[in-house]
Amino acid sequence: MITPRRFWIRTHGCQMNVHDSEKVANLLLHDGWELARGMGDAELLILNTCSIRDKAEHRLYSELGKLREWKQSAPGRTLGVAGCVAQQQGDVLLRRFPQLDFVYGTHNLRRVPEMAAAALRGVRDSQTEENRSQDRFDLPSRHPSLVGDPAGRAFVTVMEGCDMFCSFCIVPSTRGREISRVGAEIIAESRDLVASGIREITLLGQTVNAYGRHDRRRAAARSERNAGGAVDRPPTDAPDSFTGLLRALGEIPQLARLRYISPHPIFFDDELIRAHGELDVLCPHVHLPVQSGSDRILERMRRRHSADEYRQLIDRLRASRPDLAITTDLIVGFPGETDADFADTLKLVRDVSFTDSFSFKYSPRPGTAAASMTDEVCESVAQARLEQLQDLQRSLTLGAHRARVGETTEVLVEGPSRRGGAQLSGRDPFHRVVNFSTGAEASPAPGGLIRVEIVDATPHSLIGVWNQAFEDDRRSRIVKTGAPFADEQRAVIGR
Ligand code: SAH
Ligand code: SF4
Ligand code: F3S
Repeated sequence: MITPRRFWIRTHGCQMNVHDSEKVANLLLHDGWELARGMGDAELLILNTCSIRDKAEHRLYSELGKLREWKQSAPGRTLGVAGCVAQQQGDVLLRRFPQLDFVYGTHNLRRVPEMAAAALRGVRDSQTEENRSQDRFDLPSRHPSLVGDPAGRAFVTVMEGCDMFCSFCIVPSTRGREISRVGAEIIAESRDLVASGIREITLLGQTVNAYGRHDRRRAAARSERNAGGAVDRPPTDAPDSFTGLLRALGEIPQLARLRYISPHPIFFDDELIRAHGELDVLCPHVHLPVQSGSDRILERMRRRHSADEYRQLIDRLRASRPDLAITTDLIVGFPGETDADFADTLKLVRDVSFTDSFSFKYSPRPGTAAASMTDEVCESVAQARLEQLQDLQRSLTLGAHRARVGETTEVLVEGPSRRGGAQLSGRDPFHRVVNFSTGAEASPAPGGLIRVEIVDATPHSLIGVWNQAFEDDRRSRIVKTGAPFADEQRAVIGR
């Protein structure tokens, strides 16, 4: 019997990259590969890379240096590089790193099984051409051995690429032009996932709530051209609006939670705001990057909205769903940022009272508009601003967490807590990490939705207790009333 070859993928970067790694793992499993236990017993190792900041890019180069030993320590080992650095560098990487067998970009995932096979025959290859057709979304359904990993949760791609060209951002050149996936395909994939036990779906796109905008514009132009002539019929599978998509997905029985990431402030319309108040399945959390609180900097960043427009949007979202948790991304030290600009950012963070935020020091990226701005902020000033911003956020997050002590929340169980000990961990509907202890006699399985009483809080997580007796009582009530599990869950959270 031939032992199947084993692969391992190391992923850096955002959720798109995590999901691309899942897609490639799926392709390899369908091609007869097996998942290794780690890189030590893998015959194929893929590094899925990120180039959002130069630190991320440099990490790849030092990692590749170290991996020369991995490659040489067993015969027949294959090394591939994927993701955003691969998309930008292509065969430059092959030339620079002789230990590398293949490189594939963000549009060429489907080529991986064939490239890995060719590498065994000594063929070194790089594939980075952009694919603007729908067939890049055409991937086989989840392999049985991927179901349940991560337990209960799955990403679904709804659009890819970005046409926004914020002045600091490399993504439009690593992910290419914006393209939306056909709505019927998104719904079919989501249905299959839910049928296989997935309870939470996160829709993915660089500007996810811009979903379908180019297709709608093209359809409108077509019908204008045809006005007075034959009636223009859009294709029956034409993508609907983003909110239409959310509503259609909300109809899937047994889907307990729906999330999306990352929206852009300018693509929130009244329908989407209203959906947050109306759709039970939609989690009460929005990650809405703002980047800066200064109008002058927002303009130079080409974000296409002002700080007050952002505040007004938050007010409207909270009017629709009062308990909505808002998180954000922020950049400090963007070229030309003064103390006054930074003070505006601190003010916005306080005004909105973000539940949490990711903040970064600006990093110039080659080929972006901001890279040629000369009024750089010096490193020590940027570092001091970052620390001040993170201190403020820590206190806001701790306050938000403390305010929830005593509450009972719904948790989608992920597995053992990073804090160690016997605790388990999961996320609540607000996307907060909940670390919780269980009784000695029983422990809830990963992928399950359970109720946890919050007993304490840190800036990083909520601390809770799960109670089996409580759970048994709830289940017996569900059987008695016949209420669907997910609806019962939502009813008991009562927020
Ligand atoms: N598509 C998302 C964000 C993608 S990148 C959006 O439009 O919001 C994730 C985050 O990385 C950004 O929100 C930004 O805060 C940060 N980022 C992007 N480019 C950066 C750069 N050149 N320097 C520092 N941070 C950057
Ligand atoms: Fe980058 Fe802006 Fe596109 Fe987000 S919207 S991916 S920050 S260019
Ligand atoms: Fe990084 Fe590419 Fe995502 S640059 S943040 S992995 S889109």
